[in-house]
Amino acid sequence: MGVIGIDLGTTYSATAIVRGPSPEILENREGERLTPSVVVFENGTPLVGVEAKRLAAVLPDDCVEFVKRKMGEPGAAYVDADGKEYRPEEVSALVLKRLAADASMQLGEEVRDVVVTVPAYFDDARRTATKDAGEIAGLNVLGLINEPTAAGIAYGLNKQQSGVFLVYDLGGGTFDVTIMRVTGTEFDIMATGGDRNLGGFDFDNLLMGHVATRIRDQGGPEVRESDKGEAELRAQCEQAKRRLTSMPQTIVRVSAEGATFQVPVTRAEFEELTASLLARTEVTVDEVMENAGVDWDKIDRILLVGGSTRMPMVSAMVQRMSGRMPDIGINPDEAVALGAAVYADTLGAAAGGAIARIPVAVSDVTSQSLGTIALNERNIAQNSIIIPANSKIPVKREKSYYTVQPGQRAVDFELTEGDDEDLRYVTVLKSTELLLPPGLPDEAEIRVVMAYDIDGVVHAEVFLGATGQSLGAVELQRDNNLGAHAVEQMRNAMRDLEIL
Ligand SMILES: Nc1ncnc2c1ncn2[C@@H]1O[C@H](COP(=O)(O)OP(=O)(O)OP(=O)(O)O)[C@@H](O)[C@H]1O
Ligand SMILES: [Mg+2]
Repeated sequence: MGVIGIDLGTTYSATAIVRGPSPEILENREGERLTPSVVVFENGTPLVGVEAKRLAAVLPDDCVEFVKRKMGEPGAAYVDADGKEYRPEEVSALVLKRLAADASMQLGEEVRDVVVTVPAYFDDARRTATKDAGEIAGLNVLGLINEPTAAGIAYGLNKQQSGVFLVYDLGGGTFDVTIMRVTGTEFDIMATGGDRNLGGFDFDNLLMGHVATRIRDQGGPEVRESDKGEAELRAQCEQAKRRLTSMPQTIVRVSAEGATFQVPVTRAEFEELTASLLARTEVTVDEVMENAGVDWDKIDRILLVGGSTRMPMVSAMVQRMSGRMPDIGINPDEAVALGAAVYADTLGAAAGGAIARIPVAVSDVTSQSLGTIALNERNIAQNSIIIPANSKIPVKREKSYYTVQPGQRAVDFELTEGDDEDLRYVTVLKSTELLLPPGLPDEAEIRVVMAYDIDGVVHAEVFLGATGQSLGAVELQRDNNLGAHAVEQMRNAMRDLEIL
């Protein structure tokens, strides 16, 4: 049975498989290699892909786009015209179901086992949400793989290149930088970092703001006031942005209130408008290089991945930083799915006790620090890191803490994610009160054990130091995720759903 890799993108998704000596992209039912990650609910029936994208500007209220940005966010939901609520995991599941159905059609057999990609910078809640989406779609998620890692695999194998790669991945919604050491079929991640809310979408937003202002300057209406106006403005600005990749200037045309407004924009203007976004990526590149302990002479290859790296300012910036041209010969839209297919081949073979066609060894790192909240010497609550970011996964670490009074009967346990000691900059994944047995002395030892599994998903357990007795659930139910019961219900509800 075919095991496929799925690049579940913010704007576009793709699937690939290993059938021969190298991975190949599977075309969708429209015969295209990329499927827009867009869902439209037309009279309650979900429509996914290129037709849905076409309807987005016409039926903005029935359309869900960019759902990846909402994955793992507490309370996020889309409500359709009949008042039915869909969680981001369910919307993503619809996209995944459509991708798997198209792949099944191409392969002539049902696809169930998949590997799904996630941005390297995705945190625990977002990774768990992605896995849940796969389960809701009726798939068996063999594993997750970080998108830049997958791209590095595809490039390394294709070009038979070893050495240190820097992957700069700027997609539709997210930004990742990863530095990896490649030795034949071994892919060893040295450091990673990124911004999960930085992508082509944000460049579009800034252009939209500029064009909307110019339309008002021309005596036109505030086009963003209506959902339809906003959707039309978004579509036009996104296309204009693409034109500015190949042309020094273009005209954005937007229809509103029966008139068509024309706003000329030059590439230089667009680059100035969005300079701060590009600068954010530069800072991240510097940080990741520092964490990996490398400078530019140690980097053998620079790979640009993601559709947004087509903007000329990206390669210009990378060239300025490194003094070199980035590598060409990687398809920025397909590399992630191709690498995911290779990893899927390896995991699928391992699960079935078989030998992979293209066996690879991947060792990734965590992108977020894990810890707990504890009092420091001055009795101030701060984030105490147990597993630092950029630790090799899987990883398990523990740290001891001590009670603050004799006979203490409970401790507040918080599982935190974030690199800062300052609590304002960390996310609390789980907050719970753990009961202690009676009669403990002062400063009784509490051992906190934390682990990241191979998919970057978090596990934690708390023990009493003196007896080794477990105080807390092994798998902490996450506050930002659906939970096994809801996933099961949604999976059942979606079982017989046909997606157009
Ligand atoms: N020629 C181009 N010039 C500028 N931008 C482009 C061009 N082609 C595509 N893009 C932009 O690339 C983005 C899509 O890239 P891609 O398909 O790699 O992202 P994604 O995989 O959907 O998102 P992510 O990886 O962030 O989840 C869109 O924002 C699109 O506007
Ligand atoms: Mg992508």
